[in-house]
Amino acid sequence: MALLPTENTFPIIFLLLTIFSLSKAELHAHYYDQTCPQLEKIVSETVLNASIHDPKVPARILRMFFHDCFIKGCDASILLDSTATNQAEKDGPPNISVQSFYVIDDAKAKLELACPGTVSCADILAITARDVVAMSGGPYWSVLKGRKDGRVSKASDTINLPAPTLNVDQLIQSFAKRGLGVKDMVTLSGGHTLGFSHCSSFEARVHNFSSLHDIDPRMNTNFALDLKNKCPKPNNNRNAGQFLDSTASVFDNDYYKQLLAGKGVFSSDQSLVGDYRTRRIVEAFARDQSLFFKEFAASMLKLGNLRGSNNGEVRLNCRFVN
Ligand code: HEM
Ligand SMILES: *[C@@H]1O[C@H](CO)[C@@H](O)[C@H](O)[C@H]1NC(C)=O
Ligand SMILES: *[C@@H]1O[C@H](CO)[C@@H](O)[C@H](O)[C@H]1NC(C)=O
Ligand SMILES: *[C@@H]1O[C@H](CO)[C@@H](O)[C@H](O)[C@H]1NC(C)=O
Repeated sequence: MALLPTENTFPIIFLLLTIFSLSKAELHAHYYDQTCPQLEKIVSETVLNASIHDPKVPARILRMFFHDCFIKGCDASILLDSTATNQAEKDGPPNISVQSFYVIDDAKAKLELACPGTVSCADILAITARDVVAMSGGPYWSVLKGRKDGRVSKASDTINLPAPTLNVDQLIQSFAKRGLGVKDMVTLSGGHTLGFSHCSSFEARVHNFSSLHDIDPRMNTNFALDLKNKCPKPNNNRNAGQFLDSTASVFDNDYYKQLLAGKGVFSSDQSLVGDYRTRRIVEAFARDQSLFFKEFAASMLKLGNLRGSNNGEVRLNCRFVN
């Protein structure tokens, strides 16, 4: 068999290359300028209204976007509902705080009236993630658009999300698999400037931590006692937990200041202080909020560039494939 390009195969190779590059076309800030000029206004109004009624919305949406992008790229796979034959991502193990899907549904319903069949759910989620950061006091950036919605969502894939018990090597590896560097990892961990964690994600740090230490020795002692009180053993309050920094509804650099004070909630957060590759970045962000904001916007663009499969669609309802 002749596999070398000949005069006959060349046009075919060219055609394949063209199809490939079209399906992976670059994302664009002005992607919907002609087809849905009201897009960003509609989404922002929806997210703002939802956040006023429910202050948990910004943190939940930011986490939703991260989880979406880390599994099969930013293709709205996290928005699909389970079916009779498939357990979806959103019903996988770490789903407990990924909620507020109704906000995306509301924005999508309004967009289907304004510009039917045009805007992908993946792009809506990317815009809402920017909006919740900006409206919480964080940076604003221009969202690149043109994503397509995936057709596959599997609960078993959530095993690939980083766990709060990971050490720095494992965190670096988890992000590197997605083409994200050490700086991106430390920067995006700053998403924990918003929101809340349930006891289950950190309580092992304050109960019988190791054979030598009852609490994780990297932890500030008073902070550890506070977490112990909030998460007693046994604990029959399923909603108990801890805010991820001391200003959990404000997007600021307090998260990094807390890490330097031994008040990181997750072992993964606290580990960023203990490694020379990450500590200097934590220190820089704790000193300089505007540097953190600039890097966060840049890393969110990179996160948002993680691509899904080639044969995506524009879903009509974010919970179901067409
Ligand atoms: C670096 C690896 C990461 C790990 C190990 C991790 C782990 C976790 C865990 C365990 C929770 C708490 C879940 C619960 O118990 O309710 C959480 C919450 C959260 N995560 Fe992460 N995360 C990571 C990275 C990120 C990134 C990159 C972002 C966004 C840029 C993010 C945004 C959030 C937010 C906003 C919350 C709070 C959610 C809420 O209040 O409902 N996380 N994360
Ligand atoms: C605002 O949010 C509330 C609560 O989610 C909802 O009932 C209401 O319809 C929303 N209003 C608009 C204009 O979206
Ligand atoms: C989380 O996933 C479990 C299955 O692993 C499911 O039973 C539960 O309803 C899900 N919780 C939420 C809030 O979606
Ligand atoms: C603490 O952990 C050790 C093993 O590391 C175990 O032998 C011991 O029973 C545990 N104590 C409590 C109170 O759970």
